[in-house]
Parts: sequence; structure tokens; C-alpha cells
Amino acid sequence: MKPNSSMTGGSYGTKIADLYIVHNLAAVGGGSRHTYHAMPPVGWMNDPNGFNEAFGKYHLFYQFYPYGPSWDSMHWGHYTTQDFVKWKLEPTALAPDGPDDSDGCFSGSSVVKDGKLYLIYTSVMGDRQTQSLAVSSDGVRFEKLGVVIPSDLLPKECLKTDFRDPKVFRRGKFYYLLAGSMSEKGEGMILEYRSEDLFAWEFVGVLRRDDLTTRGIYECPDLFECGGKDVMLASPQGYATDDWRFENVQSSIYMVGKLNAEKGEFKKEYEDEIDGGFDFYAPQTMKTKDGRVVMIAWMQMWQRFFPTAKHGWTGSMILPRELTLKNGRLYQAPVREIERYRWNPIHFNNVKIGSRNELTKVSGTKIELLFTLDLGDAKRVGIKFYQKGEHDARVYYDREKDRVIFDRSRMGLEITHDPDEKDASVRSVKVSTEGNLLSMRIFLDVSSCEVFLNGGERTMTGNVYAEGDGISFFAEGGSAKIVSLEKYDIVV
Ligand code: FRU
Repeated sequence: MKPNSSMTGGSYGTKIADLYIVHNLAAVGGGSRHTYHAMPPVGWMNDPNGFNEAFGKYHLFYQFYPYGPSWDSMHWGHYTTQDFVKWKLEPTALAPDGPDDSDGCFSGSSVVKDGKLYLIYTSVMGDRQTQSLAVSSDGVRFEKLGVVIPSDLLPKECLKTDFRDPKVFRRGKFYYLLAGSMSEKGEGMILEYRSEDLFAWEFVGVLRRDDLTTRGIYECPDLFECGGKDVMLASPQGYATDDWRFENVQSSIYMVGKLNAEKGEFKKEYEDEIDGGFDFYAPQTMKTKDGRVVMIAWMQMWQRFFPTAKHGWTGSMILPRELTLKNGRLYQAPVREIERYRWNPIHFNNVKIGSRNELTKVSGTKIELLFTLDLGDAKRVGIKFYQKGEHDARVYYDREKDRVIFDRSRMGLEITHDPDEKDASVRSVKVSTEGNLLSMRIFLDVSSCEVFLNGGERTMTGNVYAEGDGISFFAEGGSAKIVSLEKYDIVV
């Protein structure tokens, strides 16, 4: 990743940040750096922000603290890409150096209006959170325009301290804005505002009010249309665990339903967790010009131990995913552009799986694997990866539990976590095993693993810090079979 040659100009805070990046890039590294995922050039990354298409490319902004690998006063870092796979570092877009945001430029979104790219973000001053605008006519340098939704536009029952993460979209003659909030009683809420020009906003309604099952607010709301439905996303803090769902300290959920934007009402038909793994938060979507809904999310989790911090960086993004609805349920597929980076194809068919099967040339840490398992009569059947000696991570089907399990407890390193989280080493999901078959598509990128089950029926995302490149299949308590397998190196 090289600094962009146009890293001059910008506000005082962004200039300092860019100088710091240029001088410290070389010091950041370590064995865990990804190759085809967006990561901070130095320092800390959390939520994706302002994900959009403008000026002939895709823009990804993100919550950024350049000066160290832990969360601190928030900037907006900036990447652009043509294909969601190769990321070009751009000058820092926002720094907390304005009169309304000196304690942070928190998460938000972007919108293109009259040929300009507007950023809508949460400006933080002390314990007050308001929503502000910034604008750019070249997609590189941003000028702050100040607060557009002050605290007095909040309903009386809402806390001024927790009002953030504006997501703007257009419907008819209005721009609508969703923001996370919380009532004085502690109910997490999603609020809707509207405006004709992005500057003058009015409150419309409450799209979601929680019955005190979260321990905080609904962070990072998002909304898109798909197959005649509206799908609302949100990241509630401390959402109550429901059997195998919502096991992380902070969860990300989707709600399928219908938005009545004029009235400020969302009629929910179905709700579920978006990703059943360990490291997935604050997803944000954009609609591409070719009609796809593409989602990106932070591939980390709050209140955990971050093993990469010792190498000067923390946090990265998932490989963006295309979203669709099938029978009212969310399906996720990796962006199709990733297939342009496939090299060295390997194929296998009809391989019986014993207690340990290694297949010739099926190994590596920057790879894509696609396979279908015939689950046979095995009690447990699956795959181990990042394997070396005793250490590995594994994803397998457990017949007794009837779940797919992602187990990273043997990676040789413990991820400490929030006391409210039961562990940070095993997650499970339930998927169809019709015909006794299960398919997996797995992406490994040095220290990450993204699993798409049954063509995206469910996904499991997690970072894995075991450093081996071994891959093996295993069946326990019976036999099973790999019906077919493809493996590719991903080379960017
Ligand atoms: C979510 C979040 C947002 C906030 C941002 C601060 O991860 O807590 O609610 O805007 O991170 O970095």
C-alpha cells in the first residue's frame, strides 16, 4: 500500500494525519497483514463509513485513528477501489479538528448530489453527538459545512449523548436519514429524519424501539431495497443471545419488512443475525450502478484482545458481499470481482474423508476453497485450516447438534473478551443439510476466514492467528465424502 501522491492540502488535522501515515507506514507490518482486504495503513480501523460510488470509483471511508492501534479520537480514513478487492489509499478525509467535532468524527454515510460527494457524519463534542456535513467536488478533499442536525431536533425522550451514525438515502423528493439513538429509559432506537436539500432536516418517526433487551443503542443503521422489500440493518450493543444467535458482545441484525418513509414507520416481517461468526460489525451497504447491493463490515469486534496491535495496526474490513433476498431471507455472496484474482485452479471429485485427509496442493493462506460435502454417517465432518502442528482453526458439521461450528480455540492464542460474551473461540449456526449435503465457500487471507454456507444461506466470519498453511479434511465417528472441490490462490 503506497501513500497517494496527492497527500498534500486538507485541513490541519488531516495534514498531520497524512504526514504521520507517510512516516510510519514502514513500521507497520507483522505476519498477520491481509492481502485483499482493506486494513488501516497504520493505527486503528473500525466501522466502514460513506460507502458509495462517485467520480467513477467506489469509495470506502472508515473510522480511523492513525496514531496508534487502539480506538481514540476518530478520523475518517479513505480508500477507493474499482473492484472491491484492490484498495487505493487516499488522503485522510476528516479529522476531529472542527468547532463541533473536536472529540471525534464518528460514523456516517455519503450521498452524491449535484455532482458533489457529501459526507454525513456524527460530530462529537464532549458528551454531545450531532450530525454534520462535509462536501467534496473531487472526491479527495473534503470541506466541513457544520452541524445540520443539532440536539434540539431529537425527540424529548432521547439522550443527547447517544445520537449517531447517520445513513442517508433518497426516496422521491426527500433525502431520508436514519440514526441510532436511545431513550432516557435505555431503550435502543432507530430514528428517521428527512430533508429536501441535506441541510434543513425534520424529525419524522421512530422506526424501531427496543424493549430494553439491548444494553445500549442501535449503532450504524442502514437500509436498502431488495426484491420489493425493505431491509434495515443495525448493530445493537449487547443484544440478548438467543440460543446460537447473537453470541457476540455486539451483534449485527437485519430486519426484512416495509418502510413507510412518509410516516416514519417500519413494519417488520422477519429479523435475524447477519453473520454467525466472531468478527463482523457495523455493516454498511451501497447500491452499485450495475444494480447490486454490496455490503461491507468491520471484521473485528469490540472489547476483545487484538493480536495485531503489537505490529502497529488493528481492524480490517470483510471482503464486500452482494446481498439478495430468497424467500424473505438474506443471502450473501462475495463480490463477483474476486474471481478475477483466482490463480492455480485445483479440482478434486469424490474423495472419501477419513480421520485426516490432506489433498495434494490444497494448502495456503491466501486462497479460496469451494466444496460440497456428502455428510455420510459421520458424527463430525469438516475442514481444518491455518494448520501447523497442534494449531489450527476448523469449520465442521456436528450431527448431534445439527449445526455448523467454527472453532478457533486451537489457534495457539487466546482472544480475551467482554465478560458478557460466553467465549470468543466457538460459534455455530444452523443451516439446511438437505440430501445430506453441505457446501462451503471459504476465503482465507493470512489471518482471516470468511465462510459462505450453502451459497450464502448463512455466513461465518472470524480472524484466525494460527500461522500454518496446512489444510485438511476430517470425519469422525463415521465416514463422509468430498463430492467436489475447487481451490484457487487469490493473488492481487
Ligand atoms: C460502532 C461505533 C459507532 C460510532 C463509532 C465510533 O462501532 O461505536 O456507533 O459512531 O463506532 O468509532
